[in-house]
Amino acid sequence: MPIPTSRTAENAHIIIDQDSCNACGACVEVCKDFGLYLDGEILKINPEPVFGCFGCGQCAAVCPNGSIIVEGRTLSAEDFIKQPSRGSRTTYDYLYRLMLSRRSVRDFKEKDIEQSMIDEILRAAVTSPMGIPPSDTGVQIFKGKNKVREFSYEFIDALKPMKRYFSPFMLILMRPFLKKEDYILSKQFVVPLIDVLLKSKAEGKNHLLYDAPLAMYFYNSGFADPADPIIPATYAMLAAESLGLGTCMIGSIAPFLKHMKALKKKYRIPKASRDGVFLIIGHPKYKYAKAIKRTFAKLDYY
Ligand SMILES: Cc1cc2nc3c(=O)[nH]c(=O)nc-3n(C[C@H](O)[C@H](O)[C@H](O)COP(=O)(O)O)c2cc1C
Ligand code: SF4
Ligand code: SF4
Repeated sequence: MPIPTSRTAENAHIIIDQDSCNACGACVEVCKDFGLYLDGEILKINPEPVFGCFGCGQCAAVCPNGSIIVEGRTLSAEDFIKQPSRGSRTTYDYLYRLMLSRRSVRDFKEKDIEQSMIDEILRAAVTSPMGIPPSDTGVQIFKGKNKVREFSYEFIDALKPMKRYFSPFMLILMRPFLKKEDYILSKQFVVPLIDVLLKSKAEGKNHLLYDAPLAMYFYNSGFADPADPIIPATYAMLAAESLGLGTCMIGSIAPFLKHMKALKKKYRIPKASRDGVFLIIGHPKYKYAKAIKRTFAKLDYY
């Protein structure tokens, strides 16, 4: 049975060029769908794979002779392109320095982001892994401070009526049905957050998306893994950093946005979309003089 995503419910199919195949077996080993096997020196397609080819592309990408083509689930022969040479890839030190110097930036210069930079950020973000190919992540782009603000204020307006669900009375009523962590977070984070957002809007400010000149909402479909949109958003964050831009992830929108049908419709976010994260991007107003040493909640070896 094919694995469905919002983009396709079909399997991909494999075309083998037997003349150039030297039966090395690499494609057989990398296909975790058990879609291929060697019959002596002949590569064959398994008629009983686990799911049916879901178009991960591993077999065609690993083949040293270009003897496999994967077609379907958005892939075709042209999508298999030359690998950058090993020597031209970044080193750990470069990547670490980029990561270490990144800060969440919420103060931006009054300067737009050029389309060429947006294109470069997206070009990098789309290389990220996804739960099941083809990627089920959508990206809604808000280009320009005015559009970012328009969305922010409409979201805050839609949030206002939701505040009643977090009133002290409702929280006491719901206490027996809520996990301890959700109860504490609702009381100590959600309620003050809604208040801050309402106040900031009333004062003509934007404490939701901080009036960034660019915002990208990475969201998934109803099919995808909840982690799916977070990963391209992280890639986009690092790509933007490498271009000298400042970024901040905004996670406080998606948990509410999923219930806001009218807003989803206006911004063309699919009804079934559940999870997502915003990334705001702009030219940073301040330079950070220090990096910050961080620790994980728990680090354990077994
Ligand atoms: C999943 C996620 C959600 C976040 N949501 C918000 C948010 O809603 N608003 C905000 O101002 N910052 C948000 N942040 C930024 C964090 O607050 C920030 O990463 C943290 O304070 C650490 O600071 P640093 O990124 O400069 O190291 C979010 C970050 C992540 C990873
Ligand atoms: S594309 Fe992926 S699932 Fe399909 S045959 Fe190749 S390795 Fe297997
Ligand atoms: S990786 Fe290429 S050469 Fe090796 S068995 Fe598969 S198709 Fe043949």
